Amino acid sequence: MDPERNDSLLRVEDLTKSFTSRQGLAGSRVVAVDRVRFELPSTRPEILTLAGESGSGKTTLGRMIMGMIEPSAGHLYFMGRDVSRMPAAERQTWFRPRVQPIFQDPFATFNPLRRVETYLYETALNYRVAKHATADEQVDRALGEVGLSLKEVKGRYPNELSGGQLQRISIARALITRPSLLVADEPVSMLDASLRMSVVNLFRRLKQQQSVIYITHDLATAYYASDRVAIMLRGWVVELGPVEKVLGTPLHPYTQLLKSSILEPDPTRKTRLEVPLSAGDVRDDAREGCRFASRCPRVLDVCRRVAPRDTIVDGRMVKCHLFGDSDGHANGSGPHPN
Ligand SMILES: Nc1ncnc2c1ncn2[C@@H]1O[C@H](COP(=O)(O)OP(=O)(O)OP(=O)(O)O)[C@@H](O)[C@H]1O
Ligand SMILES: [Mg+2]
Repeated sequence: MDPERNDSLLRVEDLTKSFTSRQGLAGSRVVAVDRVRFELPSTRPEILTLAGESGSGKTTLGRMIMGMIEPSAGHLYFMGRDVSRMPAAERQTWFRPRVQPIFQDPFATFNPLRRVETYLYETALNYRVAKHATADEQVDRALGEVGLSLKEVKGRYPNELSGGQLQRISIARALITRPSLLVADEPVSMLDASLRMSVVNLFRRLKQQQSVIYITHDLATAYYASDRVAIMLRGWVVELGPVEKVLGTPLHPYTQLLKSSILEPDPTRKTRLEVPLSAGDVRDDAREGCRFASRCPRVLDVCRRVAPRDTIVDGRMVKCHLFGDSDGHANGSGPHPN
């Protein structure tokens, strides 16, 4: 495959990040993200959700995609260019404006002593999307995209605005550079339930212009907002495909368990994806076999010995021995749906 081929907005190939564990035995390794592969098309913006229980590697994957942490292995191509090999200066001027982050806590994003619009002006001027004379116009345009205006916001301090307004302003800040991709890590989890859907709706509207990687615990908003969903389990993507397939008729036993234990009919309700670890289920990513084997209600003998491959079943990717040929090969070499 030609690594520089320019047919996708984002392509991650076997993206991997390992950390030396902060807990447990000194020097033990956690593979936070393990050979993850997917693409976002350049032809049509979409919302791809990364969902999965706490510690499954969503934030780590998002941070690698934003260029905030270096992969241990694998590649990240953005508009056909290998970001991991890009010189720092080019990352700053070419990549950074095109891929913008939105963080979880709007109150932590803004210094309480600074007027909120200063963040937007700074971004506009730093990335040279505006000269001083045109900055007002650019800032007002970005605020307009999130349903606010410069007139409403100018001169206000963070404590004079609600969490929902602040999160809109941080989204406006991200839009100043007219990015092609937003990476939003739990962007609504700090907001009141009543405000959540309005911010999720905003992402759906913004999708007309740019793709969004939406990281969440909340399967209900994932169901509502996404085009495609990737379900993460201990660093693996175990199921990936269109939302109506993956969350509508999940195939992986882990996705099925998440859906049955979590999905709430009311999308504004706060939900967290937690499937309890069973007793004695110590995290050990180096262990052979499937990482869900010790919790899986449909476990087979092979699951404890051999890592499953990625297989295409019914229009989505599934990493599970219940599907595919279980012939004992290591995972990662199978076909992909994207
Ligand atoms: N800087 C780090 N040093 C060591 N281990 C880390 C570091 N960052 C993450 N990890 C570990 O990597 C794994 C994945 O963490 P990550 O934060 O990506 O998960 P997550 O899916 O975002 O979880 P949450 O839903 O709680 O936000 C966890 O086991 C975590 O402890
Ligand atoms: Mg996280």
